[in-house]
Amino acid sequence: MSSAAAHSTQLAALRAEAASCRACHLWKDATQTVFGEGPAHAPIMLVGEQPGDKEDLAGKPFVGPAGQVLNRALEEAGLDRDKVYVTNAVKHFKFVPRGKIRLHQKPNTPEIKACRPWYERELASIKPALVVAMGATAAQSVFGKMTPIGKNRGRLIDLNEAGAERKVLVTVHPSYLLRLPDEDAKAREYANFVKDLKLAASFLHKLKAA
Ligand code: URA
Repeated sequence: MSSAAAHSTQLAALRAEAASCRACHLWKDATQTVFGEGPAHAPIMLVGEQPGDKEDLAGKPFVGPAGQVLNRALEEAGLDRDKVYVTNAVKHFKFVPRGKIRLHQKPNTPEIKACRPWYERELASIKPALVVAMGATAAQSVFGKMTPIGKNRGRLIDLNEAGAERKVLVTVHPSYLLRLPDEDAKAREYANFVKDLKLAASFLHKLKAA
C-alpha cells in the first residue's frame, strides 16, 4: 500500500472510531460526530470551534453560513478548500433548544479537553506544516491553553510538539464576522481575515518552492 493510501486508511479508521465517541456528554443531543474532512496529506489544517446546526445534520464541517464565509475568504486568499484539511476543536454540536431553533452554545474547557485527543490524532496522521486556529476555542485546543486571539493573530507561531516542527496561524472565527453588527466593521474584519489567510497561502507557496 502506498503511503498516501495508508494515510487515508488511517484517517478513515479514526473517523469511524470517533463516530462512537462518548468522551463527554455532547454526543447525547447531537445528531452525529462531525469529523474533519480533507486530503490525508494536507499541508494546512484549519481548525474551527464546533459543528453548527447545519454541520450537525450534514455530518461535515463548515457547510453552513460560517462555511460560506470561510469558502469565500479561502478563495480570495488563493487557497483551495479541497486541498486543506478542515476540522473542529470539538466534534459534537453543543446547543440549547429554543422553540424550533437549536441555539449554539460555546464549548467549555472540559469539553474542549475531552475532544482534544481527536485533534491530536488528526494532527499525527495528517502532519500538516501549518495549523490555522480560527477563534478562541480552536486556539485553546491547538495550544493546550487559553490563548488570546488579538495578541497572537496574523503571524506564524512556532509550535514544536512531540518532536514535530510546525507553525500555527491564529485568526478569528468566520462566525465572528457574521455576528458583527455594522457593515463597515464587517468589511474591515473580513479583509483582515483574508489577509491572515493570505499569510497561510504564501507559507504554502514557500513550502512548495523549498
Ligand atoms: N463553526 C465551526 O466552528 N465549525 C463548523 O464546522 C461550523 C461552524
